[in-house]
Amino acid sequence: MTNDLLDKIISLCKRRGFIFPGSEIYGGLANSYDYGPLGVELKNNIKQLWWRKFVQSRDDMVGIDTALIMNPKVWEASGHLENFRDALVECKKCHTRFRAEESEKCPNCGNKELTVPKQFNLMFKTFIGPAEETANIAYFRPETAQGMFANFKNILDTTRKTIPFGIAQIGKAFRNEITPGNFIFRLREFEMMEIEYFVKEENWEKYFEYWRKQMIDWIKELGGDTKKIHEVEIPDGERAHYSKRTIDFEYEFPFGQEELYGLAYRTDFDLKNHEKFSGQNLKYKDPETGEEFWPHIIEPTWGVDRSALVVLLESYFEDKERVILKLPFKLAPYKAAVFPLLANKLDLVKLAKKIYDDLRKDFMVAFDDRGNIGKRYYSQDEIGTPFCITVDFDSLEKGDVTIRNRDTMKQERVKIENLKEILEKRFKE
Ligand code: GAP
Repeated sequence: MTNDLLDKIISLCKRRGFIFPGSEIYGGLANSYDYGPLGVELKNNIKQLWWRKFVQSRDDMVGIDTALIMNPKVWEASGHLENFRDALVECKKCHTRFRAEESEKCPNCGNKELTVPKQFNLMFKTFIGPAEETANIAYFRPETAQGMFANFKNILDTTRKTIPFGIAQIGKAFRNEITPGNFIFRLREFEMMEIEYFVKEENWEKYFEYWRKQMIDWIKELGGDTKKIHEVEIPDGERAHYSKRTIDFEYEFPFGQEELYGLAYRTDFDLKNHEKFSGQNLKYKDPETGEEFWPHIIEPTWGVDRSALVVLLESYFEDKERVILKLPFKLAPYKAAVFPLLANKLDLVKLAKKIYDDLRKDFMVAFDDRGNIGKRYYSQDEIGTPFCITVDFDSLEKGDVTIRNRDTMKQERVKIENLKEILEKRFKE
């Protein structure tokens, strides 16, 4: 893979409405991106697939959606105010700033004379209320995890869950990254999907291993090539302040092997500290023995934007004539597109519109009557629509249509009344 591929994807995303540069009409804002009409569908499909797999289809999991701005004491208790930092260095020649761990020479001019590393807290500050005073400082959350710990007691009181069980959340996180970059790989504002899984201390290794396998499973569901995934054990001294064991799932991106997802053993660090700082009892009471203790936590965490990037990278193909996004059916923004063979034949348009309206009740479907059929096919291939359905003169007589497969370009004649069933079957595969 080369950066050439990334450039092609960036261009496709802009051209077809997946992802736009943020604030573009004002010249942009460094590494901020907006998801367009197709991008938001792709991203929602990823999140829905995850929610269905890890929350709705399991008995041991509940979901939550917590505030982006929390009481600042949360970040004292979590250790983020003290520890959530990167070391920043500046090139003495061209004054480019970058993370010390990134390189020992300036990534801009190659100069090796750098300033002494300076610690830089990554949390975004804001003020609550009109007075911009220290007492009113608050922070945009840098991870969704703390909202789950802060609600641990509420969840126990309202759901009667017994350990092992997990809380899941999908939401935005904010980090004042020193050097964002590589399209949607490193953003200052991004989405994450996280699980905090509460277990007895003696079982942490078993559940760490369990979630490791679940994370690999998820990558397969995304259509990711597991040969490009490398599990990297993060050594002592390099892990986040709360973690006793961390594995990064790194992926061979076009710009190098970088973190895609992470799995951490957070011990009882968070619940213990929140109990200390809040004065509330955050222990779990074993219903059988009556014993009270802080459960230990296994935390698998997934970036949504990095997931979308991997999906796009893995799906992009070119042949002589066309660009194809071979998106997994579940993730494709449109599941099918319906075309009347000719836009000026009212009978064809009417029947095509009817099929379109029927299928739309169950799937995201596109309608296109512009240009010639060949161009319409290629246009749908480029945005990953798995099936194109064409209504022609025979359709009026025989009640059947042509259905064309995106990947094989094979066309079949099928009855209009079977279309929904065919799409549903493909959807389940
Ligand atoms: N609660 C644990 C936690 O926040 P993390 O490894 O710092 O762990 C989780 O972040 C995931 O969020 C990462 O594995 C990555 O997929 C994604 N992520 C982290 N920083 C990001 C950034 N600046 N831009 C886009 N995604 C990011």
